[in-house]
Amino acid sequence: MNPSTPLKQPRHLERLVTGQPTTDGAGVKLVRVLTQDLQQRLDPFLMLDNFGSNDPKDWNAGFPEHPHRGFETVTYMIAGRMRHRDSAGHEGLLQNGGVQWMTAGRGLIHSEMPEQEEGTMEGFQLWLNLPAKDKMREPWYRDIASSEIPMSSTPEGVAVRVIAGESQGVAGAVQREHTEPLYLDLHFPAQPTAFSQALPAGHNAFVYTYRGRLEVVGAGGEAATVPLHSMAVLANGGDGVVLRSAPGSPEPARALLIAGRPLREPIAQYGPFVMNTRDQLVQAVEDFRSGRLA
Ligand code: FE2
Repeated sequence: MNPSTPLKQPRHLERLVTGQPTTDGAGVKLVRVLTQDLQQRLDPFLMLDNFGSNDPKDWNAGFPEHPHRGFETVTYMIAGRMRHRDSAGHEGLLQNGGVQWMTAGRGLIHSEMPEQEEGTMEGFQLWLNLPAKDKMREPWYRDIASSEIPMSSTPEGVAVRVIAGESQGVAGAVQREHTEPLYLDLHFPAQPTAFSQALPAGHNAFVYTYRGRLEVVGAGGEAATVPLHSMAVLANGGDGVVLRSAPGSPEPARALLIAGRPLREPIAQYGPFVMNTRDQLVQAVEDFRSGRLA
């Protein structure tokens, strides 16, 4: 779609979700924004975690060796340094503004450990499901440095980091068949400014505000606020979404806009394994215990 074409039927805000504080790994404090009860509604997305703290006690234990099978993990660092190692011998440093896109496929064992002793550690981990036919594919990953993430900016001054999919005619760092994910990091200017993104009507979509406040603007100009650290599930249908930084926002708004094509396949999850059936989960646990994921 031509980026200058105004949307005729922007989506409205269906539901606001506040994340659940929890710990994961060896005791990293985080907020689970997309929880298991939303996996059907937000198919193909399985999880979104937001970690962010300048207290090393909240993150220094990291995520020691653990397995995954059946989906993709997308880790986006806003601030901080995290080292990744896996059982296939891959290693990479993920830092300020960079992304690691990992396709677990049939499985691997990896660790994600802080490579700093103080300062801020802030970022996100998104889990993206794989279609049944790809769940047992060979594992794959790519470290994408901040400088390799394509950028676009609108005439109104909204800067867009295009991690996956396409926005304003700019192709993102990653493209995926089947789930066709869109993953944008939107940086709004200080004054109230709108941003439009075309979205296929059937794709599930949500917005997560991590600085300031946003509004989802409907067809009649009505606005629904998305407070800081809230996720707005966007109603399906229509031709896209219009977001606007809210008047009086205490700081310039920043948000993730994430969308994808639902797989509509059964989801069976046991911790770090996401398959289609219970039997496949039993097999995954057995393979892990007998060392077949290493
Ligand atoms: Fe992991």
